[in-house]
Amino acid sequence: PGSWPFLGHFVTVMRYCWDNSSWALAKWGLELQRSQGFKTHGLNFCGTYIICLSDADLVQEVFEGDPHRFTKNFNDLPLGGDLLEYSFKDGLFTVNTDNPAWQVAHRILISPFSVRGVRGIMPMMCDQADLLIKAMKRDVGYGGTTYIDTWVVKMAFETIAVCGLGTSFGCFENAEINPFVKHLNEVVESLDVLGRWPPFLRRIFCRQRLQSYIDSSASVRRTCMEILQRRKSEEHKESHKDLLDRMLSDADPKTGQKMSEESVVDNLLTFLFAGQDSTAAAMASCLCYLCANPTCKERLLREIDEVVGKDQLSWEHLNELQYLDWCIKETLRLMPPGSLLLRTSTREQVLGGWYVPAKVPIIVNILALHYSEDLWGADVNEFKPERWERGLPHKFAFMPFAHGPRACIGREFTLMEQKVTMVKFFQNFDVERVPGDKADRVADGSSTG
Ligand code: HEM
Repeated sequence: PGSWPFLGHFVTVMRYCWDNSSWALAKWGLELQRSQGFKTHGLNFCGTYIICLSDADLVQEVFEGDPHRFTKNFNDLPLGGDLLEYSFKDGLFTVNTDNPAWQVAHRILISPFSVRGVRGIMPMMCDQADLLIKAMKRDVGYGGTTYIDTWVVKMAFETIAVCGLGTSFGCFENAEINPFVKHLNEVVESLDVLGRWPPFLRRIFCRQRLQSYIDSSASVRRTCMEILQRRKSEEHKESHKDLLDRMLSDADPKTGQKMSEESVVDNLLTFLFAGQDSTAAAMASCLCYLCANPTCKERLLREIDEVVGKDQLSWEHLNELQYLDWCIKETLRLMPPGSLLLRTSTREQVLGGWYVPAKVPIIVNILALHYSEDLWGADVNEFKPERWERGLPHKFAFMPFAHGPRACIGREFTLMEQKVTMVKFFQNFDVERVPGDKADRVADGSSTG
């Protein structure tokens, strides 16, 4: 797309991304694809070049070709990679692939996050969902109404905190969202805002925000260190076998190495954020789409009634709830919590006929893939869970959890949590649209938000 001398696309990106950078950037890519047919385009960010991809075949080449061609490396990113040293540091999500800290933590944590691993924590997840329902009934009252957004945040946060780290933050006992969650979300919001500015401009124009980001990051890291120290104290040692325990006691099966305390804190923070934010967003979006599409909601309610009825929810039920699975997937297609992925080219190379220099950041536009008419057909904007009966139109047409070794480790965890929560929710409550509300307009089938 057309650009300014020296500044390149900086002005356009800033204009687009003022409110919500990654979503806006993804939407811009989608617009370029729809209006001008661009499935690959470049961005010049004050002299730093970025390649944006929304072509499923090229995305497949990036994720499935020679694993040494592309990597996840935040050092090469002009989008705030340097800021991570204050907050998530070398947590699984933000650490570079070639850093041994990723390989060690990944190998230790892959088993508790497998299908078998998460199956073992289903009873604990059901308990959290029961606590959610109890708290909602207590606070909302019979026949009362509430907005769902705060509740899904509470559910997602308590679930990862209790099921993963054996620590409750008391979210169901208090009406307000826990201050730790607020601080954590502030950290991520600041990362997003500060990351839009090149470092030299950021230091001039965002001094105050930068300082508050550094302070909030220190505060949430302190809480994680306290959780770790509490667990290490003798009296708590025996009673758990959760993620935190695995991080503290298990050794990497390949090297025999254990995770350092610093790495455990990085990952505690990573799980507390990655485990709640996207899951809460996904559940809220799914409820919005179901409100906007009453026939889908009715079909789902029928399925829950037929499969689970009044029985105790079990693992076998979850596998039988096929329409629920489609509703969750269709939501993740239309409203993927992460709309972009970042990779870098490790060397000078050619990708689908395009010259790609070494160390160039590549943005994979998940939103544009999920909204591609070529892949999904003319009804691409509509919420139609039934489309999943036909399977995927292309292996890389749907990637809310990414692909390859850096794909979401919490995939099975979140899918189980969403299913458990939706079943328990609909066994006790109903959802309705609030006409004219922003969420209502997003979910009415014609807008990408
Ligand atoms: C990575 C999406 C839930 C933990 C990722 C990535 C995506 C993603 C797209 C890859 C990022 C990249 O390649 O740069 C989602 C979505 C979720 C979700 C859409 C919910 C709907 C969770 C949950 C947890 C989690 C519940 C933890 C319990 C992680 C971690 C990584 C990750 C630790 C980094 C993995 C690695 O690089 O080794 N997630 N996620 N996520 N996710 Fe999730």
